[in-house]
Amino acid sequence: MTDEGVILVTGGAGYVGSHCCIDLLNSGFKVVAIDNFFNAYKDPTGATNYPESLIRVQKLTGKSLEFHEVDLMNMDELRSVFKKYPKITCVIHFAALKAVGESFQKVLAYYSNNIHGACNLLSVMEEFKVFKLVFSSSATVYGVPEYLPLDEKHKTGNCTNPYGTTKDTVERMMIDLANSNSNWSITLLRYFNPAGAHPSGDIGEDPLGIPNNLMPYIAQVAIGRREKISVYGDDYKTPDGTGYRDYIHVMDLAAGHVKALQHILAPNREGVHIFNLGSGKGATVLEVIAAFSKASGKEIPYEIAGRRKGDVDSLYASCDKAEKELDWKCGLTLEDMCRDMWNWQTKNPRGFNPNA
Ligand code: UD1
Repeated sequence: MTDEGVILVTGGAGYVGSHCCIDLLNSGFKVVAIDNFFNAYKDPTGATNYPESLIRVQKLTGKSLEFHEVDLMNMDELRSVFKKYPKITCVIHFAALKAVGESFQKVLAYYSNNIHGACNLLSVMEEFKVFKLVFSSSATVYGVPEYLPLDEKHKTGNCTNPYGTTKDTVERMMIDLANSNSNWSITLLRYFNPAGAHPSGDIGEDPLGIPNNLMPYIAQVAIGRREKISVYGDDYKTPDGTGYRDYIHVMDLAAGHVKALQHILAPNREGVHIFNLGSGKGATVLEVIAAFSKASGKEIPYEIAGRRKGDVDSLYASCDKAEKELDWKCGLTLEDMCRDMWNWQTKNPRGFNPNA
């Protein structure tokens, strides 16, 4: 690989990171990915130290990327990557812990990985004078919505869970940094609920252990790995009482990153840019179960359980800003997400690790 215009992707082996690598490679970018294998499966042949997801990304695109096992908690490992690729022009920062429920149990792990990890990354970027960053943030920073749809002007903070607080804190750290040094160009992408998989069914979401999120749990019920799905609450202020969320196809999300990258690489982009990435439309838990049942042709048994701590009634996005400034909007539907997720699940019933 020549080091001309390299994009460094942290957490590149993960769900959103790997799908984003596909779009980056297909758009002609040179990609170096790093990951600590916390939530990723290594090449089972042992021929490389690559994650299986990125081996498949290369097969799917017919293009190669470089990979290094790096933990953001280790600044020397991080420095060695910046030394090896002196022409890194921008970093896309995905690497983080991301399960709302788990974040209540593992508060310090979330604070240290997500906040300390981001702080280390920014410090090393400053050291190597790389001042462009796209950050994988979350709609969770809006806390309990004061109005809907949520636009980027909605106040942030007062998050309902520790995971959300870590995303909000990192956003604030990045805003403070950009205010203190005008060299920085930082884009904060606030995702709503990513779902679906690459249409090939060769890569997709592969949660370790019991899935925390709705879609991967439903997919595992449909394939017979789990008996039934618990619906967390049916007394929310939504059309059928179950939680209402804005699901976005992971390929639309990946395309949003490429648009954000092209935007930030253009001249005179110093400062902070904030965009929601969602579909602008929502669905309730029962609607998602019905859509998945239709796409898979399987009955999805469910039971109504109590509310989950930290959940809110409804969240959905206004994506007008991304459409106007990034020329991006979602093209794929909930049906597409269910179809592609089912394709991934049936082709890879146990995810990347056939012995999981
Ligand atoms: C959360 C975050 C979001 C983040 C996402 C990815 C909040 C408010 N949102 O989304 O920012 O991007 O995680 O990790 O912090 N549900 C069930 N049964 C289940 C699982 C979920 O009924 O077994 C329900 C939930 O109550 C919710 C909906 O399904 O109404 C979606 O839940 P989930 O997929 O976990 O995502 P969020 O919590 O919305």
